[in-house]
Amino acid sequence: MYPRSFKDSNGDGEGDLAGVISQLDYVKALGVDAIWLSPFYTSPNNDGGYDVANPRDVDPRFGSISDAEALIEATHARGLRIIVDIVPNHFSTEHQWFKEAINSLPGSKARNRFHFYDGRGANGEIPPNNWCSIFGGSAWTRIKELDGTAGQWYLHLFDSTQADLNWENNEVRLDFEKTLRFWLDKGVDGFRIDVAHGLVKEEILTDHRDPEGLTRALRLDVSDMSRVDRESLLSDVPFFDREGVHEIYRHWRKIFDSYPGQRMSVAEAWVHPSSRATRYVRSDELHQIFNFDFLIAEWDADFLKTAINKTLREVSAVDAPATWVLCNHDSPRLVTRLGGGEQGRRKARAMALLTHALPGGIYIFQGEELGLEDAAIPDERRQDPVFFRTHGADKGRDGARVPIPWSAGLPHFGFTSGEPWLPMPAAWESLAVSSQDTSDSYLALYRKSIAMRRDLFNTHSNTSKDDTSKDDTPKDDTPKDDTPKDDTPKDDTPKDDTPKDDVPKELEISWIETPHGVLAFRRGDHFILYSNVTDNELDIALSEADSDFAQVLASSPEARVQGNAVHLPAHSTLWLSRTKFTS
Ligand code: NOJ
Repeated sequence: MYPRSFKDSNGDGEGDLAGVISQLDYVKALGVDAIWLSPFYTSPNNDGGYDVANPRDVDPRFGSISDAEALIEATHARGLRIIVDIVPNHFSTEHQWFKEAINSLPGSKARNRFHFYDGRGANGEIPPNNWCSIFGGSAWTRIKELDGTAGQWYLHLFDSTQADLNWENNEVRLDFEKTLRFWLDKGVDGFRIDVAHGLVKEEILTDHRDPEGLTRALRLDVSDMSRVDRESLLSDVPFFDREGVHEIYRHWRKIFDSYPGQRMSVAEAWVHPSSRATRYVRSDELHQIFNFDFLIAEWDADFLKTAINKTLREVSAVDAPATWVLCNHDSPRLVTRLGGGEQGRRKARAMALLTHALPGGIYIFQGEELGLEDAAIPDERRQDPVFFRTHGADKGRDGARVPIPWSAGLPHFGFTSGEPWLPMPAAWESLAVSSQDTSDSYLALYRKSIAMRRDLFNTHSNTSKDDTSKDDTPKDDTPKDDTPKDDTPKDDTPKDDTPKDDVPKELEISWIETPHGVLAFRRGDHFILYSNVTDNELDIALSEADSDFAQVLASSPEARVQGNAVHLPAHSTLWLSRTKFTS
């Protein structure tokens, strides 16, 4: 949840915690287990609240501490869990510590909580190193000293109002421990850790060989860089994924474990190569790490299959659950990424059903379940610092952060009685929650797949560790007749790429041989999925052994079991099961 855009309760045009409470029944009906809210703490809001000025209080735009307490209680009352954000890489320059720092002398205790250094050059006019901000421009800003002269520089990997904290300073460590305990004591079930890979910096006074290249390599929307260049730059980033972060998370894990009720943590950590992600979820560290492979994925069978195999293989090594993310508040919405319009929506429905059948946890970004697209925002209404720091070259993330349309027919679709902080497209009338009360809507598909996912994969005994000995499913089964009815070339990739050896049985999927462009796998002996990722309609024969499988869910109405074959229109996913499910 991006609370600023979820639901406004007081008519100021911005969502708030009372608004979230008012829509918890909607969230519950979606079928999810938990909500994660992006920051609602005291903040000047230069970066959507990720510029925290007081992590142990609620910003008035969102409400008050008692609203947060009421939200935690209301969430639990519905059998849902609640995860909040923690932002340990930086504080807002409005944080009391930063104010103290600029009102203190170079070398003081107050400055040591951040990364303050003298500049280079005759008058200190050159920043301490050449690093670039991920949001554009330099990663350093120079302050004025108390006597009015140009003074030291402070590091900010993001906006200049987000000063990076110095994690070698024990006060910083203790303060975050205090914040974790503050929210754990209030009853939150876990934390999403912002920039979890960024806390420890190395070689801070050394120039990088290619700082602009590195920033571009870190950005997912830059595509004009060769893979080799990108990988070389990302393999060693002096401010990301340093060994020292793990000691911090080992300590945090002890704190989480000291509380009752299985408190959890999920890391936002972009690391390279992706196999390094598993280091964050070792048994004495964090519980989950976002896997962003699907966040950048096109609707492309080879890419998706590789990503699935790689992810399951990697997490199995540390016995952590896989996670899957199709979009979030930092990235284009799924429908938009897949081309937009009806075609984009069709692909997105198929990709969502593929994702929802995978082992592990699914993170759904508010509005994804409605099939929303990025909204066009006039430049004068944009708010993302990325837009300003790149002088408009990068439009930023506002398009994905537009408020949720609740009720067709109401002004601003019932999001607010005031003026929404970002304009909402008139065309969203048909995508509003109230317009999706039909069994074939995008929302209905999400509700069904989430409910079925729970039934199919959590309650069936053959997905539990104890029962795996009984699983005699052939792992590389070939349907008797899988000849496509068209002339689509056959997949010539090695057939035995099912992640077997290292994957715990309950995570296991076994691929079924298919024509190129089609993904098919089984989970246990009761579930089969087919995704047609091609532009062609296909019919694929089911093996005799699978003849008692029936369709239980389809991303498009024309996808179905027909005789002894599955009929798959272009860009569709079909779920089959041996067990009968009503939808
Ligand atoms: C990741 C957050 O998701 C994003 O919104 C924010 O701008 C950066 N971290 C910096 O905190």
